Amino acid sequence: MAFPLLFSLSFLLLLLQPFLTFAQTRGNITIGASLSASQNSSSWLSPNGDFAFGFHSLDSNKDLFLLSIWYAKIPQKTIVWFANGDSPAASGTKVELTADRGLVLTSPQGQELWKSDPIIGTVAYGLMNDTGNFVLLSDNTNKLWESFNNPTDTMLPSQIFDNGQFLSSKQSDGNFSKGRFRFELNSDGNLVLTTVNLPSDYTNEPYYESKTNGSSNQLVFNQSGYMYILQENDRRFALTRRVETSASNFYYRSTINFDGVFTQYQHPKHSTGNEGWTAFWSLPDDICKASFVSTGSGTCGFNSVCRLNNRRPICECPRGYTLIDPNDQYGSCKPNYTQSCVDDDEPGSPQDLYDFEVITNTDWPTSDYQLLTPFTEEGCRQSCLHDCMCAVAIFRSGDMCWKKKLPLSNGRFDANLNGKALIKIRKGNLPPTSPDFPRPNVKNNQKKDQENLIILGSVLLGGSVFFNCLLVGALCLCFFFVYNKKNSQVPSHDGVVETNLHCFTYKDLEAATNGFKEELGKGAFGVVYKGAIVMASMYQVPVAVKKLHSVIQDGVKEFKTEVNVIGQTHHKNLVRLLGFCDDGLNRLLVYEFLSNGTLASFLFGDLKPGWSRRTDIAFGIARGLLYLHEECSTQIIHCDIKPQNILLDDYYNARISDFGLAKLLLLDQSQTYTAIRGTKGYVAPEWFRNMPITVKVDVYSFGVLLLEIICCRRNVDMEVNEAEALLTDWAYDCYCEGIIEALVEFDIEALNDKKKVARFVMVAIWCIQEDPSLRPTMRKVTQMLEGVAEVLDPPCPCPFTVAN
Ligand SMILES: *[C@@H]1O[C@H](CO)[C@@H](O)[C@H](O)[C@H]1NC(C)=O
Ligand SMILES: *[C@@H]1O[C@H](CO)[C@@H](O)[C@H](O)[C@H]1NC(C)=O
Ligand SMILES: *[C@@H]1O[C@H](CO)[C@@H](O)[C@H](O)[C@H]1NC(C)=O
Ligand SMILES: *[C@@H]1O[C@H](CO)[C@@H](O)[C@H](O)[C@H]1NC(C)=O
Ligand SMILES: *[C@@H]1O[C@H](CO)[C@@H](O)[C@H](O)[C@H]1NC(C)=O
Ligand SMILES: *[C@@H]1O[C@H](CO)[C@@H](O)[C@H](O)[C@H]1NC(C)=O
Ligand SMILES: *[C@@H]1O[C@H](CO)[C@@H](O)[C@H](O)[C@H]1NC(C)=O
Repeated sequence: MAFPLLFSLSFLLLLLQPFLTFAQTRGNITIGASLSASQNSSSWLSPNGDFAFGFHSLDSNKDLFLLSIWYAKIPQKTIVWFANGDSPAASGTKVELTADRGLVLTSPQGQELWKSDPIIGTVAYGLMNDTGNFVLLSDNTNKLWESFNNPTDTMLPSQIFDNGQFLSSKQSDGNFSKGRFRFELNSDGNLVLTTVNLPSDYTNEPYYESKTNGSSNQLVFNQSGYMYILQENDRRFALTRRVETSASNFYYRSTINFDGVFTQYQHPKHSTGNEGWTAFWSLPDDICKASFVSTGSGTCGFNSVCRLNNRRPICECPRGYTLIDPNDQYGSCKPNYTQSCVDDDEPGSPQDLYDFEVITNTDWPTSDYQLLTPFTEEGCRQSCLHDCMCAVAIFRSGDMCWKKKLPLSNGRFDANLNGKALIKIRKGNLPPTSPDFPRPNVKNNQKKDQENLIILGSVLLGGSVFFNCLLVGALCLCFFFVYNKKNSQVPSHDGVVETNLHCFTYKDLEAATNGFKEELGKGAFGVVYKGAIVMASMYQVPVAVKKLHSVIQDGVKEFKTEVNVIGQTHHKNLVRLLGFCDDGLNRLLVYEFLSNGTLASFLFGDLKPGWSRRTDIAFGIARGLLYLHEECSTQIIHCDIKPQNILLDDYYNARISDFGLAKLLLLDQSQTYTAIRGTKGYVAPEWFRNMPITVKVDVYSFGVLLLEIICCRRNVDMEVNEAEALLTDWAYDCYCEGIIEALVEFDIEALNDKKKVARFVMVAIWCIQEDPSLRPTMRKVTQMLEGVAEVLDPPCPCPFTVAN
């Protein structure tokens, strides 16, 4: 008993402390009242004490003050509004409430620094309201001015935006000057996130857009913590998906962060001191990939590379580049040489002067000036080397060479790029104008091949740290230096291209998953854990680690072979395998981590996804399966297609997981299919019969899944009436009776797209035919779904008798 008592006593003291030490005013502020900036200055509190208005000193400099509103009861004293962010005030600065001009901020020298503009009428009193809104009212309680209508970087519950209102980010965490990012309900009624070209007001193309046109739209942050756009006829465009907690126990705020991510946070009201703000929703999903501005730098500064970490961007200069302002991590980078096309500035041939830093999966999509294709990687290198305008060349898709010029913009790390960036850098051991350096004939750029070879050889053997790193990197982290073996016609070098995968030790993965602490899910093949691995000694990448069970003892070689087959798949609708561990009894697979969970939770959760998103997902799965069946080097039959095995990435693209595992775990069963793979309900009938297993089993499962996607319900649902309990039967009944709409009842969007619904249902019925030979191939399925191929009337998917 003693402990809680002591605890609550000290807690009470903690709460009371401000009232014991400083004079505080609660509720109405009368005309003539003033506050003065100092370490101990008093503040004006809201009636319940949640918010305070007054002077808050800067963390970076305790002698500078912001006139601001903050959460008064939590330890961080988080600021939600501020007046003079561009010019923090010195000690002794005063704010006074006047009748004619409202709040006026005056420096000790008598200079007016800021005032509450505009005031039309006479202020009778001010009020720091419990909502966090500071209001100036007239005699008849009309609001003459309010902080909610002059917001800075934060919105609070009960705050409403009309068209044209916006938030601006701060310059950085500790600098309250206006930053580069803006969150705005624009004049069309669209919610947009944009970058601003400071110091002007010019806004670039949005990196997020709600597409909710409507001149009378409002952006609402309601008291339960939900944000939505209120459209005509009371329609709501939901922003916050779910607020998990009860509003009365939590503070909520939404802030446009200095790095451009709009984030909604919560904080327990009755804090014991340890909890901070928890982010639970943010926009956009991937700020690095969302940025495509034509007249600005993008999310990061020029020449910088943006990489997503926990939904927030990290900006880094590529090697060979350094920050222009070393204190501004998010600012622009400069190359370690001066780019010039004037001959005399170049004392040496390009080979002698420049080298390439190679990084994978990095792109600056808006800085191209020339595309060369078909082209080899070596050709690409040479072309950029001898082109004084070329700063970077991106070699991708096996035969495309994109040459880029400075400044590079919209840089991002993109794991799906399937290409590498060749970044031109100045060699370090050759100072640009060394007198000792023999000045070769500049015109004679065509060196003999032999000389090139010698240079290359000495670089490889000699002390170039960069090249040694590259070699080590190629060997250990080969998956990070991936290029597509199939597309590029370069002969493979032993051991390097053979596997793109990283081989981890069990210890590595134990550390990466923090001792297999956070379980993401259990599947037929094993348990999946969340983890993070460090790549290229700087990138921390979230991963999903799958610990396989039922391991075969003597299948060492086969395990590697199968893992390699999986590792060689590259498709945007497949989950990428990054590495594996084959450590005695422990066999683990390391996959990229996808943030939006499984299709099962998306389809069958509380918030039903819209029809167009569902059709996109169906297309994605079909394309992924087509790739596995027909387009990758070794045919892969999935054997366990179901919504739990489809994951969703940041953009809600469908990504098939667990492919290749069926074979992997069947290795020791020597082609006899004793165990039935797959999951009940999605399993093709031939599994139960003595029939060969072909790709058509996946087509069957896809058919069932497609029906689930169309209807947003599970294949088997005992809670509906008997006729509808089995989705496959019910769908065929509806089709025969010509009432396909019944399948998408209440789904307005789908009902408005009846033709496509009908086409999808017919394709699904074709896929679930009992006779595998009647089922279409995945190629045909994608063509039919897309409307490129005609869909004939499907026969009944009824049980058939095998002629024997
Ligand atoms: C504040 O002033 C208004 C108008 O004079 C009055 O109606 C209200 O009761 C006052 N509130 C408090 C807490 O004094
Ligand atoms: C602030 O208050 C403390 C104790 O109440 C006092 O010692 C200190 O001198 C005050 N500082 C200023 C700048 O007034
Ligand atoms: C203060 O906030 C309450 C809700 O907490 C609201 O009902 C009231 O209208 C607000 N007062 C003013 C003057 O804005
Ligand atoms: C904040 O950043 C701006 C622009 O970079 C700079 O001019 C200003 O001095 C900074 N303010 C503080 C308090 O560091
Ligand atoms: C939204 O409004 C803009 C400007 O009025 C118009 O160009 C655009 O086509 C509209 N978009 C939609 C989806 O209505
Ligand atoms: C806030 O909005 C959510 C979602 O639209 C709704 O469920 C909730 O009832 C609203 N709360 C209030 C207090 O209006
Ligand atoms: C330029 O950067 C590269 C990569 O970091 C480095 O190897 C090289 O020495 C640098 N060149 C100069 C002239 O500093």
